Amino acid sequence: MSHNLLKGKRGIIFGALNEMSIAWKVAEKAVEEGATITLSNTPIAVRMGEIDALAQKLHAEVIPADATSVEDLQTVFSQSVDILGGPIDFVLHSIGMSPNVRKKRTYDDLDYDMLSKTLDISAISFHKMLQVAKKQNAIAEFGSIVALTYVAAQRTFFGYNDMADAKSLLESITRSFGYIYGREKNVRINTISQSPTVTTAGSGVKGMEHLLDFSDKMSPLGNATADECADYCISLFSDLTRKVTMQNLFHDGGFSSMGMSLRAMNQYSKGLEEFCDENGNIIYG
Ligand SMILES: NC(=O)c1ccc[n+]([C@@H]2O[C@H](COP(=O)([O-])OP(=O)(O)OC[C@H]3O[C@@H](n4cnc5c(N)ncnc54)[C@H](O)[C@@H]3O)[C@@H](O)[C@H]2O)c1
Repeated sequence: MSHNLLKGKRGIIFGALNEMSIAWKVAEKAVEEGATITLSNTPIAVRMGEIDALAQKLHAEVIPADATSVEDLQTVFSQSVDILGGPIDFVLHSIGMSPNVRKKRTYDDLDYDMLSKTLDISAISFHKMLQVAKKQNAIAEFGSIVALTYVAAQRTFFGYNDMADAKSLLESITRSFGYIYGREKNVRINTISQSPTVTTAGSGVKGMEHLLDFSDKMSPLGNATADECADYCISLFSDLTRKVTMQNLFHDGGFSSMGMSLRAMNQYSKGLEEFCDENGNIIYG
């Protein structure tokens, strides 16, 4: 059901790959709420993915861009302003990728070229986006820019690897740039820290199935879905949150405030034997 929360607003959505993508759901809901949008993803994702189907359905243009390329981002922002007919009211950064995770390099055996790529794609691309947008004066007064993050930025999660460092940097950029962009242009910048969600990027996380179950059992409201995340994004793009900025906002059913829940305790009590490696040695932690 539409509430017309984004009536007349213009937006750019980065990172819709397929129907499971959080950005895909955000794009659908943004248009449902009255916005006009452009979509962007890497040239290869545009060729191989399903974004064209989404674009057709939403009457949106796709502007291919590698988010690590300042030049590509300049094109996305200038073309979006032209296509949509004025300054941009909201932007979603829904981009993440770790070559180390893909190549199964563990955190104590990182390849540093790959680490640079992780940080560039998953965090510095956000700074690049903000800097390009500000230099072009492409964002409207009280525009809203949101990036997606994960609680592994604050606390250690097995298998999240160098993406944890990328998310910490992403959240820091949000605060640092949020101060300047807010002060000078009344533009707000926030991150949403989302529950684990079944998507293409999500399935790269080691032991994702168990993480999903643990997280769900630990959260009083259960895991937040991609659809629910999209609802939260819409609220942040809307005029109802005009004074919210520089925040990392948890959208996780309460997970981040929990220590232990009844449901998780119950699951845990089913087996108390120590976890051992293949040689029978106990693994602590
Ligand atoms: N799925 C989860 O469990 C979860 C939880 C919390 C936060 N997040 C975050 O949500 C965001 C969206 O991920 P998702 O789960 O929807 O998965 P997804 O795989 O659908 O989206 C990731 C997107 O990043 C894009 N991308 C990768 N490299 C790029 C580059 N160089 N330039 C531009 N785009 C690039 C991919 O093409 C893809 O569209 C990510 O930042 C992710 O870390 C996901």
